[in-house]
Amino acid sequence: MENKFNFKRFRRLRYNPVVRDMVRETALSKNDLIYPLFVVPGENVKNPVKSMPGVFQHSIDTLVEECKEVKHLGIPAIILFGIPEHKDPEGLEAYDPHGIVQKAIHAIKEKVNDLLIITDVCLCEYTSHGHCGILSGDKILNDETIAVLSKEAVSHVEAGADMVAPSDMMDGRVFAIRKALDYKGYTYIPIMSYAAKYSSGYYGPFRDAAESAPSFGDRRSHQMDIANFNEAIREVEADIEEGADIVMVKPAGPYLDVIREVKQRFEMPTSAYQVSGEYSMIKAAGQNGWIDEERVMIESLIAIKRAGADMILTYFAKEAAKWIDNNQK
Ligand code: PBG
Ligand code: ZN
Repeated sequence: MENKFNFKRFRRLRYNPVVRDMVRETALSKNDLIYPLFVVPGENVKNPVKSMPGVFQHSIDTLVEECKEVKHLGIPAIILFGIPEHKDPEGLEAYDPHGIVQKAIHAIKEKVNDLLIITDVCLCEYTSHGHCGILSGDKILNDETIAVLSKEAVSHVEAGADMVAPSDMMDGRVFAIRKALDYKGYTYIPIMSYAAKYSSGYYGPFRDAAESAPSFGDRRSHQMDIANFNEAIREVEADIEEGADIVMVKPAGPYLDVIREVKQRFEMPTSAYQVSGEYSMIKAAGQNGWIDEERVMIESLIAIKRAGADMILTYFAKEAAKWIDNNQK
């Protein structure tokens, strides 16, 4: 018999919540989550980051407690950012075996079982000028910088890091880090490269958390122009050729088109960083009662997965894990 009306009835699958659950195409899993954490010198420190409600700078002791909670919530991985005691023009503490990140890794590995530790590899947290590399005048030297980044990556792994994540956007750094790790026998340590990292206004709050704002100029000589898509593909392709095991797009929400294309084109494990500004905007609007914070949080994370990300680095990881416990079967 012919349909009375010549149109499709999409609503048939929307009336019943059980059916809705059955036909849902994208799910959030705890295995998708990577939680960023900031470690500072001192003891018993838990400094709230003003521009990021719910995010703190931790000393190593409180960081370990935080990691226990993260593990307990079922989040598989953290990414660590260190704020050193002393900054200098060369960022020497970045590869000091007794540096803040190295000590933090030892402490976590001693006290928390089976929590994957990823480290952010860059120099901006360690340099007195806040730039991501070694300077000559006001220019960042590429090849001198990747030599230092390689030392930093090796030093993190020697301290016990399970994975390294170069975020600097110097050319050739994945190749240099891969070579340095392999030379030391760390052939089994994966590299998650910040492959398509844009020069974004959304990093503002992070620079409070990591105390890494550049003292002059900006990051446009190495991070990507926000308007470029084809270039992102070339960046990702180069990182894969150089040996990246996981490729990241950053920020996430405003660059869903890039995430989608990277995943479809390269079929590589793909991560996306929902950055500080994305987090803080949702938090702020939520705190003002302007949006339903939990709903928007989940919507933002589902959107990133729907675009094609396998993993999401997000300051919402703990809240999302709790939401998954309460809402997903
Ligand atoms: C360091 C780094 C930054 C972020 C991650 N690693 C800051 C920057 O590039 O200025 C941003 C993360 C965020 O905003 O949450 N290079
Ligand atoms: Zn940097």
